[in-house]
Amino acid sequence: MLDSKTAPPSVGTESAAVTRPSLAILRRKPVERLVAEGGQGEGGSLRRSLTMWQLTMISIGATLGTGIFVVLGEAAPLAGPAVTISFVIAGLTALFSALSYAELAGSIPVSGSSYSYAYATMGELIAWICGWCLVLEYAVSVSAVAVGWGQYLNELLEGTIGVTIPQAVSAPLGEGGFVNLPALIVVLLAMVFLMGGAKESARINTIMVTVKIVTLLLFIGIGFMGIKAGNYAPLAPLGVTGISAAAATLFFSYIGFDAASTAGEEAKNPKRDLPRAIMLSLLIVTVLYCVVALVAVGAMPWQDFKGTEAALAQIMTDVTGQSFWGVVLAAGAVVAIASVVFAVLYGQTRILFAMSRDGLIPKVFAKVNPKTGAPRANTVIVSLFCGTLAAFIPLGELANATSIGTLFAFALVNVAVIILRYKRPEMNRTFKVMLFPVTPILGFGFCAYLMYSLPGITWLWFAGWMVLGLVFYFLYGIRRSRLATEATAEK
Ligand code: ALA
Repeated sequence: MLDSKTAPPSVGTESAAVTRPSLAILRRKPVERLVAEGGQGEGGSLRRSLTMWQLTMISIGATLGTGIFVVLGEAAPLAGPAVTISFVIAGLTALFSALSYAELAGSIPVSGSSYSYAYATMGELIAWICGWCLVLEYAVSVSAVAVGWGQYLNELLEGTIGVTIPQAVSAPLGEGGFVNLPALIVVLLAMVFLMGGAKESARINTIMVTVKIVTLLLFIGIGFMGIKAGNYAPLAPLGVTGISAAAATLFFSYIGFDAASTAGEEAKNPKRDLPRAIMLSLLIVTVLYCVVALVAVGAMPWQDFKGTEAALAQIMTDVTGQSFWGVVLAAGAVVAIASVVFAVLYGQTRILFAMSRDGLIPKVFAKVNPKTGAPRANTVIVSLFCGTLAAFIPLGELANATSIGTLFAFALVNVAVIILRYKRPEMNRTFKVMLFPVTPILGFGFCAYLMYSLPGITWLWFAGWMVLGLVFYFLYGIRRSRLATEATAEK
C-alpha cells in the first residue's frame, strides 16, 4: 500500500507535491488531467453531441418517476397533508448539493460525476468509495425502479385489456413468484436503446420526459377540481417527526438530478451547460413535486393513501368518476418509470466508463464502439446486472439503501467543493456556489441529517455494501489503478 512516488501528471498544472502522497490510497488525479482524458475510451471516443436542453432532459429523465408516482403514496400517511413540506425539505437537501454539483460539473466536466470530483480532491480511496456509492444510487436504483414499473404496467393492463401478469412471472422468489419478467424487460429495452449512442438516447429520453411532464400537468389540472379545503386540516397530524421521516423517504424522488453530470464527456459545451442543466432540472422537478403533492393531499384525505398502490391514478378516477383517467395516468406512469430506468442506466454506464479508464475496474467498461460512440460492452454488462437483480432478487431493504448511498455521495460533493476552492482558488469556474462556504456546509449538514433519519436496518445494509466495496478495492483497484501502474512503470 505504501507508494514512494506517484507519476507526475502528464497534463496539468498542479504541483507534483500534491500528487505524490506517501499513501497510495491518497493519490489524487489532477483536474487538468481528468479533463484532458475526457471522452477517451478503449478503441474509440465518446462523442460530443448533447445540448443544454438535452442535458436537462437527462436529469429530469433520471429523477421524475417512482418517487412521485409511487413513493408519495407511502410518504403521505407519515406526514399527513404536510407531505408538501417534506417535499420542500428533501428538495432543499437536493438544492444545496445541486449547487455544489453545478460548481464541480462546470470545473471538472467529465463523465465520472462525483467519483471524479472526489478523485481530484480527496484521493483514490474516497473516490472509490464515492463510485461504489454511486453504484447504489444508479445501478441498484435502476433495479428498484424497474420492479415498481411492473406494478404500474399491471395497473395499465388491467384498465385496458382486463388482464394482469400472473404473480409467478411478475415477482421474484421469496415474494410469491419465480421471476419478475416486466422488470427484466424494461431494463433490456433500455439497454437496446442505449446501444445507439448518446445522441439517439437523448432523443428517446426527451420524448419520454415530455410524456411524463404532460401526465403530471394533467393530474394537476384534474386533481385541482377535487380539492376539499378540509383535507388540509390538521396540517401536520404526526408532527415534525412525521414530516422529517417523510422527507427522508421522499429524498428518493430527487435522486437523479445529478445525471447530467455523468454526460460531461458527451456534452457540446459542458462547462457552460452542465451547471445550467443541473439547476434547471432540479427547479422543474421540485415545482412539479410540490404542486402535485399539494393537489393530491387536497383531493384525497391523507389517511386514504395508506395501502393505495397507485394513489395518483386513484385520485384521477375518483375526481372524474371515470376509470379512463386513472388508466391515462397509469400509462403516463409506465412511461415515466421506464424513462428513469433508461436515464439512470445511461448514467451508470458513464460513471463506470470513467472508473474503468482510471483502472479501478476492468478495462472492458471503457471500450467504445467506434460506429456509435457508445460503450456497448459496458451497457450490456450493466443492463444484465441490473436486469438480473430486478428479476430474481427480492430487493427489500437494499432498495432503501440507494438513498443512503446517494446522500453519502452528495455529502462528499459538498466537501469536494470546499477543498477545491481552497486548493485551486485560481481555477476557472463557470458556476460558483453562492455564500461560500456556508452553502456547501449546509448541504453537507442536510445530507447528514437525512442519513441520520433513515432506519437502522438501512445503515446495516449500507455498512455491508461498504465492506464489500473496500474488499474489492484492496484486492483489485489499489494495484490496477492507472496512477499505480504508472508509478510502478516509473520505478
Ligand atoms: N428519483 C427517481 C425516481 O423517483 C429514482 O424514480
